[in-house]
Amino acid sequence: MELSEVINRRRTVRDFSQNKVPFKIIEKALRTGLKAPSYNHLKEWDFILVREDRHRLALTRTEEMIEEITNELEQAFKDYENLAKDMYLDAIPKQKRMILTAPELLIVVYKPKTQVSESKKIYDLNCLASVWCCIENILLSLAEDDVFGVTFIPKNTPGIKKIFSIPQQLEVAAIIPFGYKASHAKIIPQKEIQLESKLHINTW
Ligand SMILES: Cc1cc2nc3c(=O)[nH]c(=O)nc-3n(C[C@H](O)[C@H](O)[C@H](O)COP(=O)(O)O)c2cc1C
Repeated sequence: MELSEVINRRRTVRDFSQNKVPFKIIEKALRTGLKAPSYNHLKEWDFILVREDRHRLALTRTEEMIEEITNELEQAFKDYENLAKDMYLDAIPKQKRMILTAPELLIVVYKPKTQVSESKKIYDLNCLASVWCCIENILLSLAEDDVFGVTFIPKNTPGIKKIFSIPQQLEVAAIIPFGYKASHAKIIPQKEIQLESKLHINTW
């Protein structure tokens, strides 16, 4: 498949069918992740595949997860652009369910040089930037095989590290529920951006 086709095919999916993802597709995606550029050349990334329901449940208990849209929540997004508002109101009540029921759940871990809370300049975030290159490679590889995911960014990473005995010096970048798309999966249209409005040559 052409790279451009894979890039166009990759979309965030939060509603999954229960069909199992063959392990060779997962392995290929993780190997593709490990091909990503890395600021320190060391690719200090690890992957945890969560296969136990009790661990999934524990993950959902590390932070508050809203399960239904309330008037208050709708109000909170009332001034957002329509596409962003539609996305949040679709996504927020699905967070817990996708963690509990997606066919596969991947936790991507990285080694920060500087802790995010102590970062003072963009350079200090290079490890985080690199692990996101890895994550995009994973998502593209999955999309090539018709498998899709969603990057969930957890708030309570110390709580997650405790559940999985992740070494103290490492950090959680994202949790990625993934699988084949449900037939009713809702895909919010992507925002169309005209390159001409974003490209600045020589000066702003
Ligand atoms: C850094 C980052 C954080 C995100 N966090 C979440 C999240 O916590 N929960 C969620 O459902 N989606 C999350 N997303 C997915 C975005 O909502 C999604 O990428 C966006 O709506 C655009 O849709 P697309 O991926 O289909 O192009 C995140 C995406 C990125 C890049």
